[in-house]
Amino acid sequence: MHGKHALENYQKQMEQIQAEEEIKKDKQRHKGKYSARERVEMLLDPDSWTEFQQFASGSLSDKTLVNDGVIIGVGTIDGRKVCVFSQDFTVAGGSLGEIHAKKISWLMDLAADMNVPLIGLNDSGGARIQEGISALEGYGQIFERNVKYSGVIPQISVILGPCAGGAVYSPALTDFVLMVEKSSQMFITGPKVVKAMSGVAIEAEALGGAYMHASQSGNAHLTAISEEEAFKKVRKLIALWTPQTHHIKAPQKTSLINLLPAHHKKSYDMHTVISSIIDEDSFLEIHEKFARNLIVGFARLNGRCIGIVANNPKVMAGCIDLDASDKCARFIRFCDAFEHPILVLEDVSGFMPGLQQEQAGLIRHGAKIIYAFAEASVPKITVIIRKAYGGAFVALNSKAIGADFVYAWPGSEVSVMGPEGAAAILYSDQSQKSKEEKMNEYRDQFADSRHAAQKALIDEIIHPDDTRKRLIMSFSLIQSKKRSILKKKHGNMPL
Ligand code: HXC
Repeated sequence: MHGKHALENYQKQMEQIQAEEEIKKDKQRHKGKYSARERVEMLLDPDSWTEFQQFASGSLSDKTLVNDGVIIGVGTIDGRKVCVFSQDFTVAGGSLGEIHAKKISWLMDLAADMNVPLIGLNDSGGARIQEGISALEGYGQIFERNVKYSGVIPQISVILGPCAGGAVYSPALTDFVLMVEKSSQMFITGPKVVKAMSGVAIEAEALGGAYMHASQSGNAHLTAISEEEAFKKVRKLIALWTPQTHHIKAPQKTSLINLLPAHHKKSYDMHTVISSIIDEDSFLEIHEKFARNLIVGFARLNGRCIGIVANNPKVMAGCIDLDASDKCARFIRFCDAFEHPILVLEDVSGFMPGLQQEQAGLIRHGAKIIYAFAEASVPKITVIIRKAYGGAFVALNSKAIGADFVYAWPGSEVSVMGPEGAAAILYSDQSQKSKEEKMNEYRDQFADSRHAAQKALIDEIIHPDDTRKRLIMSFSLIQSKKRSILKKKHGNMPL
């Protein structure tokens, strides 16, 4: 068949896809969700979507599985090209069969060849049970590409429904996972399988909802209250990575001098420091609800994207624990892989002391921070805001492990340990002095950052209100930094 008939046939097939689209929308709407195509349209710039392999399909019993449950294509976000796959829950629960996997794998190869980010819109019950081991093989092919392209192209997973099995392992291998509150879940096995295997009835939301993964397991880096907000956040993430040369807005002028509380033990929110340094409204926090004692996120500084790592004295006095270590190391490694300079805002009394943390492996986890900073070859700058004690001072981007510049605010403290412990040991024989007097003496004699500046461990003590200006200048000095890296297959990072 060719000519007019072929064209008519083609048009009929296209019309059928259109007609089915309306049914799909209805089915998804019933669950408070959008269809696979609607999602793509909401995510991308208008009219920028080009779809591939629309006619690739699978089958189940005697039923044809249109698209085999996934659509794939290329579009733009703020004019920047991206590759997107979007799983269709209305086709066998978005489960992954042989063709489904083949389409995603092909798209991943295309994204790597094009050198553009890959965004997966996930809504899938995992390996298609009826396709058995062919489905497992399909996941294996996707995982292999997740790993092969890790550090080559950014990979983002958006979870938009109840995702199970392989449908969560692949996102776990990507750089960022975003979940929608109340409508998306991630679990290795869903509630029905858990019930069948163990007899335990558990709600999907408790087993793997957005709140649990964002605040406890750390599997979700970002959350949104709706699909609309989810796509906005992905667009912001992609846009942030692209340098901006116009409409750069400095933060509102507020003096940082009075920002720190009068008493050195009083807490304050480091977010205020961040927003008074970066371009206005440019911060996108990653892992906002997880390990809140440490803040990480992307922002613009004079139009350029930087990754920010900052202690937050407001939560657990900003101490570094297991989860904060993992969160920090993973973020640094993303920044380094994709050439985003790193800024550290430091106010830390140390690693979290205690039996529970030691038993759970604080040494192993904390070592990841040292490894990640020492390994990162992007421009790296630290500003010590109030204090940097002991191992945490060394680990959090000190000059010794490779910071390009370290600055400190006046009156900040850098010392081998906190004044409480040190003063008790050093001045134990001066019983006539109060604890407070001893600590003040220690502060003045050893801990004030001017001692670190004298030893050239700090490159300058800067006026708080000059921080933004100094950082813009410093990052521009080292913009084209090149460090030769020892040739090796790869290091062996503590995990
Ligand atoms: C085939 C599936 C499926 C699957 C869902 N469906 N999951 N079909 N294989 N894995 C189908 C259902 O049969 C149903 O078809 C439709 O999708 C919608 O599913 P429901 O159960 O009605 O929806 P809901 O109540 O919303 O529950 C969604 C769900 C649940 C939580 C995802 O379906 C579920 O628990 N599925 C199994 C999840 C799971 O344990 N997967 C692990 C697979 S093994 P009809 O025709 O009725 O509409 C795996 C291993 C990979 O992935 C390991 C790699 C290392």
